[in-house]
Amino acid sequence: MRKPFIAANWKMNKTAEETEEFINSFLPLVKDVSGADILLAPPYTSLGVAARLLKSSHVILAAQNVFYEEKGAYTGEISPAMLKSAGCSCVIIGHSERRQYFSETDTIVNRKIKTARKNGLDVILCIGESLQEREANKTFDVLDRQLAGSLADLPLDRITVAYEPIWAIGTGKTATKEQANEAHAHIRQWMRKHKEGADAVRIQYGGSVTPDNIESLMTQPEVDGALVGGASLKPDSFAKIVTGAIKN
Ligand code: 13P
Repeated sequence: MRKPFIAANWKMNKTAEETEEFINSFLPLVKDVSGADILLAPPYTSLGVAARLLKSSHVILAAQNVFYEEKGAYTGEISPAMLKSAGCSCVIIGHSERRQYFSETDTIVNRKIKTARKNGLDVILCIGESLQEREANKTFDVLDRQLAGSLADLPLDRITVAYEPIWAIGTGKTATKEQANEAHAHIRQWMRKHKEGADAVRIQYGGSVTPDNIESLMTQPEVDGALVGGASLKPDSFAKIVTGAIKN
């Protein structure tokens, strides 16, 4: 069985001080949790304080983005080696907000994953369709295209896939557990067909996950965890999602 994996994507929220406050309240709430992997992805400016506070804990530290070059004249960008040295072992790549607001294509996502892996970082690869694409029955085509482009010439080790339907992100409109499972099963089939080791890859669901819906989502055989935005910003709410995700 794949171990549940619950990740917090804070997006552009929390200063370093707020990060410290969160972690000091959150760690005691999850100190005895061993049945799920837990990850926090704060903004870049909070990585230093988060790394210091999480050092002797079992909580994984990740960044929300990374650049595909290793160094050079790329004003404002952050390299994988910088993330490693800041204490990250993982990075989120290809979030729909990066695709939408920063024009990230599958080719760019693919380059980012390659550079991240080369530098020893694990990756959470985000994919998912828009409402328009779902309504036009294009969901599986979109997922296939994103998987093929993002994972071109890459093995599956070090990869977690996050299925995040765009219409469910920040809208309070969670996918039903059946919709999530169906999309995850499709993603797993694609990986089985094209790569080795598909059955070991964890597939997280993301989009309006809360303490109230996590247990139901996790009843699904293909749902291996969650990538949580809004409900990960409060320690008690995120801790409830972590404990609610542990499959009995
Ligand atoms: P919400 O949980 O706020 O819907 O965000 C989901 C998400 O985009 C996580 O990456």
